[in-house]
Amino acid sequence: MRIQVNVNGEPREADVEPRLLLVHFIRDTLGLIGTHWGCDTSNCGACTVHLDGEPVKSCTVLAVRANGHDVTTIEGVSSGADLSLLQQGFREARRGRGPGLRDGARGGFPGARRRAWGHALPFLLLRMHAGLRG
Ligand code: FES
Repeated sequence: MRIQVNVNGEPREADVEPRLLLVHFIRDTLGLIGTHWGCDTSNCGACTVHLDGEPVKSCTVLAVRANGHDVTTIEGVSSGADLSLLQQGFREARRGRGPGLRDGARGGFPGARRRAWGHALPFLLLRMHAGLRG
């Protein structure tokens, strides 16, 4: 089936299988690898994108459902080639430089929890971005 989806403000078209998940369309067809497939249980949120402005787990949505709609990925919240203020804040926090976030974001989380934090980053950023828009 041929679908047309506005992804991060740009019209994109592709032929897809009816059963293709949106997360695979975004990553494999469009090459936007900021969206992650982090679990098989729809619990981690690493695949979160905005579908018409609402956060959805793209591992639970068929790509054909996005036909004719707007999708925003983590790449879409950047300001051109620059990171958004939210992205900059999280990058600094992960490096242990964020004011007030050092212990929680890096120093306090040993290995596995730090990796989980990284998987959840698109979810957190897109939820916060939606919240800031009002
Ligand atoms: S990949 Fe984990 S919730 Fe979608």
